Amino acid sequence: MITCSAPAKVYLFGEHAVVYNESAICCAVNIRTRVNIEYSENIVINSSLGTTGIDYEIHPYVSAVVEKIRKKSPYRGVSISIESDIPVGSGLGSSAAVVVATICAFNNLLKLGMDKESIASFGHSIEKEIQGAASATDTYVSTMGGTVAIPARQHLKNPLCNLIIGNTNVFSSTGQLVAKVASLKSIYPEVITPILSTIGKASLRGESLLENEDYRSLGELMNVNQGLLEAIGVGCDELSRLIHSSRTAGALGAKITGAGGGGCMVALAENENIDAISREIKNAGGIPIVTGVTDSGVRVD
Ligand code: PMV
Repeated sequence: MITCSAPAKVYLFGEHAVVYNESAICCAVNIRTRVNIEYSENIVINSSLGTTGIDYEIHPYVSAVVEKIRKKSPYRGVSISIESDIPVGSGLGSSAAVVVATICAFNNLLKLGMDKESIASFGHSIEKEIQGAASATDTYVSTMGGTVAIPARQHLKNPLCNLIIGNTNVFSSTGQLVAKVASLKSIYPEVITPILSTIGKASLRGESLLENEDYRSLGELMNVNQGLLEAIGVGCDELSRLIHSSRTAGALGAKITGAGGGGCMVALAENENIDAISREIKNAGGIPIVTGVTDSGVRVD
């Protein structure tokens, strides 16, 4: 039996702007999906969603990995079981984590000799196949871990702070929100383009603030980034409530992470404010998850 795990991700800066080649900063966070694999007579995939064989309705990502690998390197059967601490469909990269952890598990079981770069790019091709379109960021960050400047893919210093995620539990569709921003941009290009470019500038400034460990300013710029995300129409009431309550409870900064319109927010927090921020997120109707950046990308456990 081999067990591999891979982390979730958050954006400190730059979601949406990154679609237009602006800079972003993404962190792998210590909330993981674990995939266990062993040889078996046939294909069995087990998760909290049920037990299936190859099944593109219930286990689309794992089924795609199973079939792609079988074509490259035939094997009789495997039994795969998935346990995840990453909320699904909330912008934290749950699909990327299960994809790269499954690839890593096969890599070790079948001794495929893939390096991390090939796990990340194979993972991205699976996400594209299942979703139609997918950014390479989720699979890259989940594979490599750490704090990563996008699109340069350069590793930055990790923030030595806590990250508190607040999940609204409101469904959000990345595709629809990306389309909404594209539509606003095509109607008001002279207004929206500079906003996206300002988000990119906040992200670039964030790189030097991380380098200097200046978390007060980093938080302040995250708040600025949040204002700009509101301006391009990806906020919602539930997210605003969690963001504002986190700030009132002492967060250094708080903003949407991911596509917005629901899903999650992230707050940057010093140790002494963790309890108050978590409590206020809960009081505001969200589910808090206290975490931090992890350097450990996909790995054998
Ligand atoms: O919510 P997520 O994790 O799917 O992130 C979306 C990030 C966007 O910048 C809005 C889209 C993208 O593909 O980069």
